[in-house]
Amino acid sequence: MNKIAIAIDGPAGAGKSTISKLIAEKMGIEYIDTGAMYRAITLKLLNRGVDIKDIQSVKDIVDETKVELINGRVYLDGVDVSEEIRMPYVSSKVSDVAAISCVRERLVYLQREMAKKSSVIMDGRDIGTNVLKDAQVKIFLTASVEERAKRRFVEMKNKGIDISFEEICNDIRNRDTIDSNREINPLRKAEDAILVDTTGKTIQEVVDEIISIIREGANL
Ligand code: CDP
Ligand code: CDP
Repeated sequence: MNKIAIAIDGPAGAGKSTISKLIAEKMGIEYIDTGAMYRAITLKLLNRGVDIKDIQSVKDIVDETKVELINGRVYLDGVDVSEEIRMPYVSSKVSDVAAISCVRERLVYLQREMAKKSSVIMDGRDIGTNVLKDAQVKIFLTASVEERAKRRFVEMKNKGIDISFEEICNDIRNRDTIDSNREINPLRKAEDAILVDTTGKTIQEVVDEIISIIREGANL
């Protein structure tokens, strides 16, 4: 198989990471969760108590920070933060951090370096429109806000994290708004991306649909 790049974009809770992970396993390619990278930087800024309006301090921290994705785990300066980055207090701040240009520049550079090394399926908000503009296959995954919030609610409950459905709904709506309206590389469907609405569909149905799009789009 020639080197392949697959871009999966869409709003929070659309199923991007769940579906991308399954497809990566099935195809034997790397999965890159770019949202996890923005979350890891956010966690560090929060832990350090940095005022994110202080752009020079943010830049200093970003420049000295190592974010790695290894075997499905997320490492921040060598420490596994895979669980912590999913906590609501990180979710509620991540979109503000992701709107800062020096943060995006650094992470987009790292993401492109990863994609140079091997075949990848990469999920995020600006993969098809910016990070991997030349990806052979681009998918825009979406679902109704209610369904996305319901999915996240079940996920949080299963993890024993105490958060109400309303709080999750508000967080998702708030992040959708910030992510779609920021100046730099906002959340948009790339013109050549295929829209897949996952509302009311099972994970298996979505995986099957996307695999057939990939087969057609990448001539596999
Ligand atoms: O998993 P969930 O959809 O909740 O979010 P995520 O994929 O972990 O991404 C967290 C946040 O990072 C998003 O709400 C965006 O603000 C930001 N992000 C981004 O700006 N660009 C990306 N390529 C990926 C994530
Ligand atoms: O990465 P993104 O924020 O787009 O979504 P996710 O983290 O994969 O979360 C989606 C949640 O909805 C997971 O708990 C999945 O098990 C569930 N789900 C899904 O992803 N796709 C469906 N068609 C149905 C449920």
